[in-house]
Amino acid sequence: MELIHPKANEYVDQYSNATPPHLKAMYEAILAEHPHAHLQSNWNQGGFLTFISKMLRPKYIIEIGTFNGFSTLCLAEGLTDEGQIDTIEIREEDATRAQKYFDQYGQGKKIHQHIGDAKKILPNLPQLFDLAFIDADKTGYNDYYTLLKPKMSPNGIIIADNTLFHGEVLEEKISGKNAKAIQAFNELLAIDDETEKIMLTIRDGLTLIRKK
Ligand SMILES: C[S@@+](CC[C@H](N)C(=O)[O-])C[C@H]1O[C@@H](n2cnc3c(N)ncnc32)[C@H](O)[C@@H]1O
Repeated sequence: MELIHPKANEYVDQYSNATPPHLKAMYEAILAEHPHAHLQSNWNQGGFLTFISKMLRPKYIIEIGTFNGFSTLCLAEGLTDEGQIDTIEIREEDATRAQKYFDQYGQGKKIHQHIGDAKKILPNLPQLFDLAFIDADKTGYNDYYTLLKPKMSPNGIIIADNTLFHGEVLEEKISGKNAKAIQAFNELLAIDDETEKIMLTIRDGLTLIRKK
C-alpha cells in the first residue's frame, strides 16, 4: 500500500527544495534503469536526509543499505569538511553502480564504501557516529539498532526507514516476514527507556532516535 497519496508526493516535491539538484539526473536514471528502483528513497525523502544532515553537520555518518547511492549522496551533503560517510551494501552489483555515482557526483566528499553483510562490517568500524541511516533488510533492523546504539555519539541521531512498512504494521494481524520484523523493531524501540524517538509519516515511515 502507498501510504502517501501520489498527488501529495508531487505537491511536496513542488514546494520543497532541499534535495541536492545536481542529483536529479542520477535519481531519474536509477528509476528508469534499475529493476528494483522502488528500493531507492524518493526525491522528497532524499531532501529530508540532506536537511537533517545539514542541521547536524556530522563528522561521521553510517548508512546501512547503500543500494545505488542516492541516499548516501544526500546524507553526505551535511558532512563537515573533514567528515566521512561509511556506507554498507551486500550486493556487489549495486555497490559497483553506487561507486560509479560517487565518483561522478560525490563532489570531493569522503565516501567509504563497504561491500558485505552490515552485521559483520559494523562491529569493525571504530568511529562514533553522529548520524546513522538504517535502510537494509528489515529482518536485520533489531541487530543493526543493537550494534549501532553504543556506537552513536552523545547527540547522535539514528534514522530508520520503512517503519510503517507499506501500512502492513497497521493491520490487526501482521502476516509478512518483513512487516513482522518492522513491528518487532518498533516494539524494541518502544521499550527502550534510554532513547527518545519520533515516527514521521514521510514516504514509508521514518523513525528518528536519539539517546536521552
Ligand atoms: C532499500 S535499499 C537501500 C536504499 C538506499 N538507502 C536509498 O535510499 O536509495 C536496501 C539495500 O540494503 C541492501 N542490504 C540488504 N541486506 C543487507 C545486509 N545484510 N548488509 C548490507 N546491505 C544489505 C540491499 O541489497 C539493498 O540494496
